[in-house]
Amino acid sequence: MTIDVVSSGAYDEAGLIAAAVDARSRARARFSNFHVGAALETSDGEVVTGCNIENATYGLTMCAERVALYKAISEGRGVFTRIAVVADTEAPTPPCGPCRQLLWEYCGDIEVVLANLAEVKARMRLSQLLPLPFDARLLK
Ligand code: THU
Repeated sequence: MTIDVVSSGAYDEAGLIAAAVDARSRARARFSNFHVGAALETSDGEVVTGCNIENATYGLTMCAERVALYKAISEGRGVFTRIAVVADTEAPTPPCGPCRQLLWEYCGDIEVVLANLAEVKARMRLSQLLPLPFDARLLK
């Protein structure tokens, strides 16, 4: 099985966002009608994308960010540098709490780029979104 690696090599920010916009077009969001795309960049310059996937029980919904992360990990990618998240909102749409936790544990302090369909709305480090994380360090 192949993953949705859009391309290889260094991605400029616009390319990463374009990959997230493309992924967003595949969102299955019939219940919220809130379509999200994510593009996760690996240290090798690959990009793995995700979209949100909802279902009739609502609670089994999976966010775009975690779809991208789980795809990437399950296909052997392990070192990440950046994630772009795209939604059609005027204010930046940041990863939800569970996604922040999972991104922190598996990606570390990556750069987060939040964009809508027209422009970048915010750039930050994940540590700014999750400043006092619970993680494996505390389980030693
Ligand atoms: N959603 C994401 O996929 N990522 C985010 O960063 C925010 C929320 C999805 C979950 C659900 O399908 C819809 O957006 C509304 O919450």
